[in-house]
Amino acid sequence: MTPKAYTHKDAVPYRPVDWTGLYPPAYEKGTVPHHVAIVMDGNGRWANRRGLTRVEGHKAGEAALLDVVAGAIQAGVKHLSVYAFSTENWSRSPDEVRFLMGFNRDVLHRRRDQLNEWGVRVRWAGRRPRLWSSVIKELQYAEQLTADNDVLTLTMCVNYGGRVELVDAMKQIAEEVAAGRVRPSAVSEKLIRRHLYLPDMPDVDLFVRSSGEQRTSNFLLWESAYAEFVFLDTLWPDFSRQDLWEAIDRYLGRNRRFGGAVDTPHVARGGNA
Ligand code: FPP
Repeated sequence: MTPKAYTHKDAVPYRPVDWTGLYPPAYEKGTVPHHVAIVMDGNGRWANRRGLTRVEGHKAGEAALLDVVAGAIQAGVKHLSVYAFSTENWSRSPDEVRFLMGFNRDVLHRRRDQLNEWGVRVRWAGRRPRLWSSVIKELQYAEQLTADNDVLTLTMCVNYGGRVELVDAMKQIAEEVAAGRVRPSAVSEKLIRRHLYLPDMPDVDLFVRSSGEQRTSNFLLWESAYAEFVFLDTLWPDFSRQDLWEAIDRYLGRNRRFGGAVDTPHVARGGNA
């Protein structure tokens, strides 16, 4: 695996995670969402409102991503998964697709040393077919470089789609059944999870989407089955660690039941027993 040579043009200044001088609230132990998933939406609108082309919005989104990674580390989040290119994004204009492929490759290249310095482990979730080999190489190099880090796992979801992730898992399971290695009755949630792109990725606790749109757009469908959803109006290039902390605040105000329910008729009467 040969990483691209580092050039002066690529160099970015190194910063500690708290370079902004901002700090999250003191969260109670064990309350911070373990896994946060983010749909980084709104780059195009941000740019067009300024009379710029969509790619300028994507470029501006790079700093937001780094700021949010740093803010997640400060908050104590252990897993952050970001939607960087979906299997549906191939339907964008050829120019934008070309830009996004090169951009994902270059962001990884430019930022991997900084992420490594922060103790971030980079991982990739997505499909190989169609994805540029130079992007796969950068993803693999970043994975290898940061493999031993454990401060935060940043999963870059590139050429990722929740439905195709399940299709790919089902295909593998069907082959195992056809080969007689797995009995149909043994197909279970646990077995399906073992065939996802990253079987050890924990369930998503908090699912955030920027830009005011309120949909999942096929992101981490299986993994978000019991996630809390927070939709913020901020467009991605304006998104910062403070928006992440706002989303965490809202998450902390939610009552997660996971299908269970507790009878509390006394609450309506103002009782406390
Ligand atoms: C899903 O919405 C959003 C994405 C797949 C995010 C795309 C992100 C980028 C292009 C920027 C990547 C930025 C960095 C810093 C790597 P959608 O627009 O695909 O879905 P929709 O059509 O349902 O709105």
